[in-house]
Amino acid sequence: MADTAVTMEKIVNLSKRRGFVFPSSEIYGGLGSCWDYGPLGVELKRNVKAAWWRDTVTSRPDIVGLDASILMHPDVWVASGHVSNFTDPMVDCKLCKGRFRADKLEDSVCPKKPSKQPGQCDGELTEARNFNLMFKTHMGPVEDSGASVYLRPETAQGIFVNFVNVVNSARMKPPFGIAQQGKSFRNEITPGNFLFRTREFEQMELEFFVKPGEDDAWYIYWRDRRLAWYKAYGIRAERLRLRDHGGDELAHYAKGCADVEYEFPIGWQELEGIANRTDFDLKAHINQSGKDLSFFDADSKERYVPYVIEPSAGADRSTLAFLVDAYDEDGPEDDRRVVLRFHPSLAPIKVAVLPLMRKGGLPEKAQEIVEMLRPHAAVSYDQAGSIGRRYRRQDEIGTPFGITVDYETLEDDTVTLRDRDSMEQKRVAISELVDIITKAIAPPSLAAGLAP
Ligand code: GAP
Repeated sequence: MADTAVTMEKIVNLSKRRGFVFPSSEIYGGLGSCWDYGPLGVELKRNVKAAWWRDTVTSRPDIVGLDASILMHPDVWVASGHVSNFTDPMVDCKLCKGRFRADKLEDSVCPKKPSKQPGQCDGELTEARNFNLMFKTHMGPVEDSGASVYLRPETAQGIFVNFVNVVNSARMKPPFGIAQQGKSFRNEITPGNFLFRTREFEQMELEFFVKPGEDDAWYIYWRDRRLAWYKAYGIRAERLRLRDHGGDELAHYAKGCADVEYEFPIGWQELEGIANRTDFDLKAHINQSGKDLSFFDADSKERYVPYVIEPSAGADRSTLAFLVDAYDEDGPEDDRRVVLRFHPSLAPIKVAVLPLMRKGGLPEKAQEIVEMLRPHAAVSYDQAGSIGRRYRRQDEIGTPFGITVDYETLEDDTVTLRDRDSMEQKRVAISELVDIITKAIAPPSLAAGLAP
């Protein structure tokens, strides 16, 4: 019996074949751990980011957005601790010259003897030394150290340095949040596992500012709400868990931290971290910049430096989780189908319109339906091959609906509507299609309320 379980290899192959994700610069042999999103992948990732933005920002009165620049003043990274502490321990193999994370040797393979871990082969490893993960570059035409800047390793600091700007311009008052999505860069020593760990990736971060003393309740609130978010968008509950960090795992500034973990084919791994960062970041920037970043509450006449709860997710890692979780193979062995069971609101294409034959006025009628649906949903048209093969092609990219236009359509303006998951087909009037499809692809609503 063929193994129907999802593997990273199946996901990588499907992604390449169907245009979700391609290796970067492939015609030049690729560039380690860099990936390009193809026509379907870019839609999927945009839908994931839009879902996060809608649920984190536009559907709430207490959170506003920000889009800070990737290059920031170098002092930002001194204040945040990244210049001195954002390091991983690295060892070199004296034989093959490979470099590995000393604390992740069990996840690394010897490049010369892939069945062994570094250090288990004949090569001797050097002493571990700290390697800073920030990418450094130069600003302006002169390459001297005074012109050095970093590509941001997280989006969060852009939020902290704009705290006062947002409070003053948007008239926000704790409890409130600032959310941001954008690229971050880390010179990971051992990237890998497809989109899971890359050197260039996108984050979706929220910094939620609260009055000290109200932080514990908001921390629990955001922990639960972020877990609920993944479930609402269809990730199987049994492949999700919240894992609280033990005391020895906590960053020195964090009062509490929990990871939303997902059971990838490579095992349980972090999808997102939710941390109570206390007043560490704002105070660090107060000290470094000499600027007052405290908040004055005009009602209670109190001045304080807010505490921060930070749910920090990866857009690429979430996209990978949605892809992996959606993957399914069903049907008898001689008629197996691969189907991506995306939540309809995340599916890259929502509906495919398929004329039964390429003649007799069916393509023209199908194109009319495509144009009718286009303002409401991402729609595709396919007339190549048998109808069964065309359904399978759509199943494999996760299209929730197939509409077949046949000769009956020309007589009574009805079509066959096929459901991706159940494969059930029913006859519906063309006039009902917009209503049925827009309802089915609507985003879910999160059960939890807006406050602890
Ligand atoms: N501001 C806090 C922060 O950046 P983090 O745990 O280092 O925390 C948050 O990163 C999230 O960003 C991770 O949970 C993961 O989803 C994503 N992420 C971090 N490093 C990544 C990498 N090298 N490749 C892909 N995603 C990454």
